[in-house]
Amino acid sequence: MSKISRPPEPEDFGTNQSGNPYFGDIVHARLSRRAILTGGLSTVALALFGCGGSDDAAPVTTAPATPAPAEPALPANTLNFESVKRTPMLAGDDLVVPPGYRWTAVTKQGDPIGSKLGAPAFRTSAARRFDTTGAEAELQFGDNHDGMAYFPLPYGSKSSDRGLLAINHEAARAGVISGFRFTGVTATTDPATLDPAGETAMNPDVVRKQKAYHGVSVAEVYRDAAGQWQVQRDSAYARKVHADTWIAIGGPARGHAAMRTGGDPAGEQVRGTLGNCGSGATPWGTYLTCEEDCHKNYFATRELPASDARFQDPKWARYNIVSGYVRDYTWHFVDKRFDLAAEPNETNRFGWVVEIDPYDPSWQPVKRTALGRFAHENVAHLVNADKRVAFYMGDDQGFDYIYKFVTAKAMDPDNRTANRGLLDEGTLYVAKFAEDGGGEWLPLVHGQNGLTAENGFPDQASVLIWARLAADKVGATQMDRPEWLASDAASGWVYATLSNNTSRGNATAPGNSTATPRAAQAKNAMNPRDKNLHGHIIRMRDAGGNVAGTRFDWEMVVLAGTDTADTPDPANRGTIKGDAFSSPDSVMFDGWQRLWIGTDAGDALKASDWSGAGTDWSGLGNDMLLAMDTRSGQVKRFLIAPDGAEVCGTQMTADGRTLFVNIQHPGTEQPRDIPIDAMTWPDKVPVSQGGIVRSATVAITRIDGGVIGI
Ligand code: FEO
Ligand code: CA
Ligand code: CA
Repeated sequence: MSKISRPPEPEDFGTNQSGNPYFGDIVHARLSRRAILTGGLSTVALALFGCGGSDDAAPVTTAPATPAPAEPALPANTLNFESVKRTPMLAGDDLVVPPGYRWTAVTKQGDPIGSKLGAPAFRTSAARRFDTTGAEAELQFGDNHDGMAYFPLPYGSKSSDRGLLAINHEAARAGVISGFRFTGVTATTDPATLDPAGETAMNPDVVRKQKAYHGVSVAEVYRDAAGQWQVQRDSAYARKVHADTWIAIGGPARGHAAMRTGGDPAGEQVRGTLGNCGSGATPWGTYLTCEEDCHKNYFATRELPASDARFQDPKWARYNIVSGYVRDYTWHFVDKRFDLAAEPNETNRFGWVVEIDPYDPSWQPVKRTALGRFAHENVAHLVNADKRVAFYMGDDQGFDYIYKFVTAKAMDPDNRTANRGLLDEGTLYVAKFAEDGGGEWLPLVHGQNGLTAENGFPDQASVLIWARLAADKVGATQMDRPEWLASDAASGWVYATLSNNTSRGNATAPGNSTATPRAAQAKNAMNPRDKNLHGHIIRMRDAGGNVAGTRFDWEMVVLAGTDTADTPDPANRGTIKGDAFSSPDSVMFDGWQRLWIGTDAGDALKASDWSGAGTDWSGLGNDMLLAMDTRSGQVKRFLIAPDGAEVCGTQMTADGRTLFVNIQHPGTEQPRDIPIDAMTWPDKVPVSQGGIVRSATVAITRIDGGVIGI
């Protein structure tokens, strides 16, 4: 595979220079046995589910997104579909599902979310692809569909034929929207040169359109008489929360000096949400969208001199704010919020979990600062026996951490609005793993574990705004790019994808050297491969069934990787029982004990450019969705994405008959950006008629209407 010429990005190598050890000196009371599993899940692990005694976690109580079927018991074969064969990278402008299944694109970028909002129909032409104004784009589905949750209608039902889809739009591709790229802008670039398509980076409406294709769409969807999913365009629930929507700040950081700006002197309101990556839902039916890559992508520092002392301050460095930086977006030219010289605190107002009530469009979304600020990937939850709720979260950057937030108060399952303040009060923890299969949740609480004023944390808000630095201080365990987590309410296991980390044990990677603490970040039991090209999946379980507690056990589930024939270096081979994959990213646990795994191997390929390990990736082809039977560890490939796309946000209706999947950035993944005209998925309208590739949610069903995979 040819080399790519692209500088590594911070998530590839990280900003964590803390030198935290990878295993603790903690003395933990083991509550279950360690099982490093090398071919799926072992009988040891299975025994843990069922037998009694203090070794076992009591079931937690929760309402999972896809409740388990009542009867009959799970069939022996829950992967009853024909495995989809790999597609070579850049081989197809199509999406492939097994024989006997069909897909339709339900929400496509540029389509109207709701007619009551006044959203116009999708307009496109050969001359102007997303032919829309910024104001119109605020009423349309955005780009880069990522996290997603399905909320049945009516609330409290298990309806599998009508519901609300909340959909994240992680980014908006300037090139796709406007026919040209901003990528490559430098500190000295003249904005006037960015105008090959007749639009300009200085044009406020272009910027507004880009902002509008960010955020979260909430759409009502239903299954029609023919079994096809449609958007209910005249729904009263339809709405868009985008990069200019006013959002409240909740929790300890509300009103803090570091949250105040010229546009919000009180530090209580933020315009917009950005980098909306993965997501989650609360047990009271609200949506949690996770702000991930907010800091390096949007905020320009080019007006600040390199000598500015803040560039030496870990508060900025740890969040990827570096000198002379401008990137894909040029919003700072027309919106001073994104110019750090003008508004140095604006960046502190992004990187949070945002709560949105899809059932109540009148309720203002809230940034929940009690959950900490970092590159939030997604949120998975479990409910404790006492009805306190634990939320598990990953910080997606090389050598960063896994967190848990536990509410201070119990939720009220019978009064959803009574739970609206629950996420503002509680304890944020960060995970410290031990190599023998145990672990400890370390509280990030002002005054504890060195989180004191003399160490730079004068109050709890400072601990949360700079959560990465607080986690560094307490000695959390550096993991290989934590992406999604998914919880199994019946067993208490929380599955976590560690997507890849080619800087692990790699002294030549950017940010590493034999002279820095990072050189000590060698492989360990939790991250067992140097130059981890393909990633792996672990699972964690809180001790004694107490998800509010501070002890957990963990197990290796699988090492990803290609098979022997495709993998010259044995160190890169995986332990998968079944179909090969790389770079697990999005995961969802369904009611049939299956873990659905969406991949984002594009990132691994990017990283391989500078690790020199690209050939061990080459056999995998396009990104994909797979299902793992967690009882046996068997893995089967269910879907292949179109060229350039990653697979995100998988959701299943309670009846198991519909799988919703997001196809993010078809056509424009690195390493080789595909010419804009090369793909027209999913519409397949000719380019001469305005055909344009569009991110979309697809609904996958069995042609005979049956339960997927059963
Ligand atoms: Fe937005 Fe870490 O993926
Ligand atoms: Ca992801
Ligand atoms: Ca990823």
